[in-house]
This record gives sequence, C-alpha cells and structure tokens, in this order.
Amino acid sequence: LNRAALAGASLAKERRDLKRLEENEQADSESRDLSQPWLDPMANQQERQFASDVKGNLMSQRAAQTPAWKAANKVVTYGKITSMSIQEQRRSLPIYKLRSQLVEAIKNNQILVVVGDTGSGKTTQMAQYLAEEGMLECGKLGCTQPRKVAAVSVAKRVAEEVGCRLGAEVGYTVRFEDITSPETKIKYMTDGMLLRELLVDPDCSKYSIMMLDEAHERTVATDVLFGLLKKACRRRPDLKLICTSATLDAAKFATYFWGCPIFTIPGRTFPVETLYTKEPEPDYLEASLITILQIHLMEPAGDILLFLTGQEEIDTACEILFERVKALGPQVPELLILPIYAALPSEMQSRIFDPAPPGARKVVIATNIAETSITIDGIYYVIDPGFAKQNAYDPKLGMDSLVVTPISQAQARQRAGRAGRTGPGKCYRLYTEIAYRNEMLPNPIPEIQRTNLAMTILTLKAMGINDLINFDFMDPPPAATMITALEQLYALGALDDEGLLTRIGRKMADFPLDPPLSKMLIKSVDYGCSEEALTIVAMLQAGGQIYYRPKDKQAQADAKKAKFHQPEGDLLTLLAVYNGWKASKFSNPWCFENFIHTRAMKTAQDVRKQLIGIMERYKHELVSCGTNYNRVRMAICSGFFRNAAKKDPTEGYKTLVEGTPVSIHPSSALFQRPPEWCLYYELVLTAKEYMHQITAIEPKWLSEVAPTFFRVADLNKISKRKASEKIEPLFDRFAANKDDWRLSKQKRATR
Ligand code: CDP
Ligand code: MG
Repeated sequence: LNRAALAGASLAKERRDLKRLEENEQADSESRDLSQPWLDPMANQQERQFASDVKGNLMSQRAAQTPAWKAANKVVTYGKITSMSIQEQRRSLPIYKLRSQLVEAIKNNQILVVVGDTGSGKTTQMAQYLAEEGMLECGKLGCTQPRKVAAVSVAKRVAEEVGCRLGAEVGYTVRFEDITSPETKIKYMTDGMLLRELLVDPDCSKYSIMMLDEAHERTVATDVLFGLLKKACRRRPDLKLICTSATLDAAKFATYFWGCPIFTIPGRTFPVETLYTKEPEPDYLEASLITILQIHLMEPAGDILLFLTGQEEIDTACEILFERVKALGPQVPELLILPIYAALPSEMQSRIFDPAPPGARKVVIATNIAETSITIDGIYYVIDPGFAKQNAYDPKLGMDSLVVTPISQAQARQRAGRAGRTGPGKCYRLYTEIAYRNEMLPNPIPEIQRTNLAMTILTLKAMGINDLINFDFMDPPPAATMITALEQLYALGALDDEGLLTRIGRKMADFPLDPPLSKMLIKSVDYGCSEEALTIVAMLQAGGQIYYRPKDKQAQADAKKAKFHQPEGDLLTLLAVYNGWKASKFSNPWCFENFIHTRAMKTAQDVRKQLIGIMERYKHELVSCGTNYNRVRMAICSGFFRNAAKKDPTEGYKTLVEGTPVSIHPSSALFQRPPEWCLYYELVLTAKEYMHQITAIEPKWLSEVAPTFFRVADLNKISKRKASEKIEPLFDRFAANKDDWRLSKQKRATR
C-alpha cells in the first residue's frame, strides 16, 4: 500500500468517525435522564443473525457477505486516537457532554450510582471534573479499582491528562506500593487498600468524595466496602459516595443505597455481529488460534481481542501463533501479538495501547482483565471462548483453587461489546448458542460467595465489627464459608472461644497478608527469625515465577536451581536464593547466571521493604537466627499447620486434615528425598493434586504451635498405626454437633 493513499484514506475515515461521534453525542445528550434505566447496548441486537460454524463455513460466508462498511474500509485506520490531542480526546468521550449535569447530580445527592459502558470516561474523567469544580478543596477524592493493573494505568493516564507528575496531584496506592504525597487530590487505589485504610480511619476522614469504581466486578473488598461506606455515609453527611458500574446491576446498587438516583451515560457503541459455533468446541485454544488467522487473512482492517483464562495459556497461545504466522511467509501482513494479564510487567502492559503501524494488525490476547477494567481502542473483532479462571472455594477443605469456569451471559455480552467501540464489529463465540442460553448463568457469582474469607473477616473483626451475621452485605456469603473462616482464625489463635479478636489476631490484621502468613511473621519474632521469615514471605508474595526455565536449557536451569536446594524444603530454598542474590549485592548478572527472574527478585525486595516498614511501625523486632533453620520451620509451622501432610505407606502423601491423597511436585527441592512429614504452601490441581512449596517438619511441632487444632494422641485409646504417629488432628471437634457451638458463640459475641 502506498503511504500517501493510506494517510489520505485514514484522514477521510477519521473525519467520518468524528462526525458520527458528534451525532451520537448529540443524540446522547438529548436522551439523558437521571431516572432513565440503563440501556444495555447489546440488548436490542439480533445476536443470532450470523450464527454459523466458525471453523467450517465462515470463510465462504465471509466472502459472500462482507458487510458494506468493511468492504469500503479496507484501509488500515488507526488515526483517531493518535492524531487527537489529550484535551481533544477528553472532549470526545461520551461523558463530556454530560459534565454539568453529572456535577449537579453529585452535588445534590450524597450517594449516586453512575452507569456507563466501558470507555465512556467514568474512571478517568469524573475525578477531574470534580477537582476542576473545586469540590476537592476540603478533602481528597479516592477511587477504588478491583485490579491493581487498572489502578496503576488509570492513575498514569489521569496524571498525564492533568499534566502533573505521577504522585503529585494524582497518585495511586496498591499493595506494597504507595505513589502519593500530601498534595495528592485524586487517589486511585485497589479496593483492598481502601479496606485497609478504613481499618484505621473508618470515617474516611481524609476524603470528601469516595468513588467505588467498577462495582459490577463485585470483588470481596468492594462488597465489604459497600457495607462500610454505607455506614460511613450515615455518620458523615458531608461524605459523597459514587458507585460506578458498567452493567445492569445498577438498580440493585441503587436499592441497596437507600434508593439513590442512577445517572446513566448513554453508550457510544456500534452494532456487533455475534457468531456462534454449531458444535461445542473440543479445544478452544486451537479454535481461537484458527479464528485469529482466519480473521487476519480474510477480514478487513481492525484489531483482534482474544479472551483466554490465564498467563500460561496466553503465553502458549502467543508462542504458537507467532510460529504459525512466521510459517505463512513474508507476503502475509504483519500481525503484532500482544499479551495482557495482571502479572505482566507494566511496560509490556502499556504496549497494548499503542496503535499497530500502518498495514499491520494487532491481536491482544487477554485475561478477563480486558472485559471491563481496561479499554483498548481499535478492536473490531472479539474472540470469546467462553471461559475464565475463577476462584472457587471449598469451605469443607478450606481450600481456594483457581478453576477454569464458563463465564456468565453478562460477561459474554460485555466481551462482545468490546468489538463495537471503534466501529461496527464482530464477536466470534466459540460455543453454541444453546450453551449461551442454557448453560451460562445470567450473572457471575459475586466473589464473596466463592472465596476464603479468613482475611476479610479478620479485617472486619479488627474494625470492631463482630456481628458478621447481621453485617449489611449486598449478597451475604454462605454460612459454611463464614464458619470455616472463623474456624481457621480460631485455630490460628486470632479469635478466642467467644469469637472475639485476640491480641495476636489484632496484630495479624496490621499486615496486608493472608492470615497464615501474618501469623508466621508475628511468631517469627518469638522464634528469633523474623529476618528470615520476612524474606520467605516476600518471596512468596513476589508473584509469578522466581526460577527461569527456558525450554531449550531446562537441564542447565535445573542444575543451577539444585544448587540452592535446602534439605528443609522449598521455602528455605527461596530464602537461600534471596540471600545468594543479596550476597551478590542484588546484581542482575547474578540472576541471569543462576536462571533467576530478576523482576521477581526486585518485587520481593520491594515487598520486603514494605513489610519491614509495617514491622517497625508496630514494633516487631527484626532478628536473625543465622542458620538455625529449625526456628524458621517452627515459624512456618505456626501459620501453616493446617496444611500438614504425612507420607502414605502405600503411595505419595495424605493431608492430615481431610486425608486427601497428594503428591510432591517434581520441581520441589525435596522431590528426591521425600520427608516423612511436611507442610505445603498451596495445593495445585493439575494431573495430580500437587503440593507446592513444601517444608519438612517434625510432627511434634504441630501440637506445639496449634494446641487447639492438634493434640498428641492418647496412646491407650488409638490404633497402633496412629500410636506410631503420636499425633491426631482435633479438627473433628468442629464436626456436626459443634456447628451450633460456633454459631451460638458468634451470636452471643455480637449481642
Ligand atoms: O471508566 P470508563 O470505562 O468509563 O472509561 P475510562 O477508563 O475513563 O476511559 C476513557 C478513555 O480514556 C478510554 O476510551 C481510553 O481512550 C482512555 N484511556 C487511556 O488511554 N489509557 C488508560 N489507561 C485509560 C483510559
Ligand atoms: Mg472505568
């Protein structure tokens, strides 16, 4: 293609786009009405009109019925965003025309629910409008995000729009990272961080406006914040609360907040054709890749967005796709392959926003992070395999696991909608229409109903909220989940017999960590090994992988890793790695040489610093035990005793609590020399139920660190086999008849 022609065509297209945009906006502002119910942009679409088999006859169908807009639009046009100045971009957002009405509505109401499609400007614009109106003179505006990635990227964007340094007037706070200063007026943060702030300041006294953004995501933290901020609003009539959502839940939110008004920002969306497969797809990953290539080769310009379930899957997909495109040869136009998931380094993440160069097409392969949290312009094609990784919680086992589950209809509509933001688009659903109608739930299940609540309940207890049964939850968690959480906290010594917070429980709540980890840290002071415990916790929190194991150098990488292996287990091995890096003066070449991910190490170092800050603030001593690793193991034991497993006489291991058969993962330092007893950090179900990050322990430690959970068995009363183990779990005290015990205690404590 000739560049000049391209530029000319794209300019014309741009003008057309802008004109249409203007018309749309006029229509938008006319139809605005505070009481207008939320209009789902997808609701009126004839979703079935192009239903067909993606793999089979799409190609022929496409040749026959390429829509006119696409036929006339064969030139790549990525001009709109890049050619507009930041202020022009701000003015082009759907929210802009409603600015004064929106500000009025916020001034006139203490609580307001704001609904608008993703990309309408809620997150980036509202805060700026209110700042520009002088509404932040007496207090900050806080804006929560369910995801860390979104909080960071949005803060960066708004700082850029405001024209300030990040951390000055606009900043963000996420776990283990605080980029704010006393002058910060607009503060983006994760919902989890606000929850922690409320622990010391339940009235939000530093804020005049609080925005619970992306409330439709219904994370546990947001759900708890609903209840806490509702209370704060009652105590502080001057506090404004704005709750934003991209979906239909708005009416439910408004009802919950005493029937507050709903402000709707009409969407600027184009029609999206939806295509279904005729048969269920046996391999959605393969089907996704085929669909990408078909689009790339057959369809007019426009970027592609594919939803997959997680990092590993996304990386694999990118790799295979890259190979396949390469194999097609140089005649095929360039295809930029860009992954996006939460654990991706942030400079890689921001690459997805860059427009593809002329003539090239970009495909973004994302987790459900791209459903609502981030908006990528220029997407015309969405491929939706219909799955997402979701947290599932088994209260009986007390175990969290990430499982790939079908998405809900609301999510499917949201995904499809991503194709209609820049122009009319297409959504390829890699499942049948029957599956969509009959097998998908209308709405996702709120996280609070499918996760371990120990940390949340600990936080609430630390806020003095003991009456969990009557807490104003929008959707209360299942009783079994609450009971298990209480039981875990009790076993950890964080709650007493009455269900009230103990001193150690209060200390645990100061750490933004899961209760077993915070318990381990606090106990490590008594065991004289807090330096070591801090390192281990920081390494565990670093997220992602520490060890680098490239496919072509696996043996070499494994040999390097084996040098760090400690006979006490994987957590002590993590300690050895960190100390090795520290001895090298935190050098990058050292990481490279030892097949260690530098980035993960740097994160661990940051997390460690933050945790030291908390330790110092609350006067927990920093002490080292040198090489007396038994102390470290005791500290680990005091947090993770619940995860004990014993070698099974027949094969593998069995967990102590449920007797579940489990195995040591081949990557473990103890794979070659399995200990009699061990603790795992987590169980991961793949081919087998694998224990990850294990530590060898002495069984007698269990009853020492958790006397309410284990006791040394009475030798006269138990079987010979058990006698040889000399330890028995007490968990059955929580069985059947004890259920009432816990609930009645709970009730008694709260009345
Ligand atoms: O919150 P909502 O989904 O309504 O929209 P937003 O996040 O305020 O985004 C409005 C626009 O800002 C998007 O359409 C993007 O063009 C732009 N934006 C961006 O360029 N970079 C970001 N990190 C966030 C938003
Ligand atoms: Mg938003």
